[in-house]
Amino acid sequence: DAAGSRVSAIEAFRANILHFTDNPDPMTGAGIEYFEDGVLLVEQGRVKALGDAQTMAAAGFDLQSCQHFPDQLIMPGFIDSHIHYPQTSVIASYGEQLLDWLNNYTFPSEARFSDAEFAAQAAREFLQLLLQNGTTTAMVYTTVFAQSTDAFFTAAAQMNLRMISGKVMMDRNAPDYLLDTPESSEQDCRALIERWHQQGRQLYALTPRFAPTSTPEQLAVAGKLYAQYPGLYLQTHLSENLQEIAWIKQLYPNARDYLDVYDQYGLLGPRSVFGHGIHLSDEEVARLAQTGSGIAFCPTSNLFLGSGLLDMARLEAAGVPVSLATDVGGGTSFSQLRTIAEAYKVLQLQGQNLHPLKGFYMATLGNARALQLDHCLGNFAPGKEADFIVINQGATPLQRLRQSSTLTVAEKLFALMTLGDEHNIAHTYVMGKKMFSRTAAEGSLSWA
Ligand code: GUN
Ligand code: FE
Repeated sequence: DAAGSRVSAIEAFRANILHFTDNPDPMTGAGIEYFEDGVLLVEQGRVKALGDAQTMAAAGFDLQSCQHFPDQLIMPGFIDSHIHYPQTSVIASYGEQLLDWLNNYTFPSEARFSDAEFAAQAAREFLQLLLQNGTTTAMVYTTVFAQSTDAFFTAAAQMNLRMISGKVMMDRNAPDYLLDTPESSEQDCRALIERWHQQGRQLYALTPRFAPTSTPEQLAVAGKLYAQYPGLYLQTHLSENLQEIAWIKQLYPNARDYLDVYDQYGLLGPRSVFGHGIHLSDEEVARLAQTGSGIAFCPTSNLFLGSGLLDMARLEAAGVPVSLATDVGGGTSFSQLRTIAEAYKVLQLQGQNLHPLKGFYMATLGNARALQLDHCLGNFAPGKEADFIVINQGATPLQRLRQSSTLTVAEKLFALMTLGDEHNIAHTYVMGKKMFSRTAAEGSLSWA
């Protein structure tokens, strides 16, 4: 009957459950909801309810109906605010800093994405990698080729993943085979926006690579489109590397500073996410805060490319939204667990602290807020899209040692982020549907 089928459409998941209702205060516990024995109810791909198992059982709920993950941890899927899908195969490339790394590794790799078939396969494999790492939403750079962006959104839509992405705009200072023009990028972006923006779970981000690879005319196109289509995002790179900043001064002699280049073309705002932002002036920090523009903190990339240490306390004190990102392939891991751990170390070197609860907040609700997605994602509030992960906190003997019951929840989370990686991700669910299990064959990557 109708009532019966409605009831059976609810799925129940029982485990340790952690999520955040706000930026956590570890001292008081505000913003943190943790259930030692919790139940997450999902109906038609959305969160129905969350509660304590024994309390729910006492109210008549049948715990036998749950999929039970004893000793495992359910939390919202991770969100990655800055990653490049065509750079998967250049991860861990030796020896260079930003500008040489782009020329020697990144640009040749991106050239292959003019082939739509190749791009489609790479997109599927990239999304599988995200799921294997427990990441269910990301803000993703494609390449200059519109077909690579189409391929990416097609794959994301097939897997029903919420992704923010766009075609790279790049009309100078890169190899000829990777250049568009202001006119062609405008046409391509318009077609892609109309095809993909706010279609299903997909969202479009204007993606001028960074100011050195766009002419002023092309940045003006980006600004025009940004103003024209409601709800668009914008992603680019900002102040990552000292040579890059010196180059900006040559290319844009009339700009007050690096951020001002983007500001002059109307590219700042609450849906603008600037990768890195390591070497910013006080004026730039103030302007980011004033416009609600965000910084994507990419610790593994900043260490790997020798770019510098992000002063997160300074940005947060000024009110700049800071999100957490892998920046693969400048970054060295798809895992947000690894990324939180490296963020902790980057802050340690500056006498700053990253509480583990803050780290897990950043990778979930914090990033959802920074990407203006917290109306639909980031925690287990009723009605939200049920993207979640099941974490095996003790995947190795050493990890099991550091998950002993004598430790507090925060201490165990700290050990999980410090020692953990994708091998701790047992299952990944997208809109309530299991899309990855570690026990299943993970497959291999075909595009070596
Ligand atoms: N700056 C411009 N392009 C890139 C890129 O692909 N990766 C990083 N890390 N920085 C950039
Ligand atoms: Fe990047």
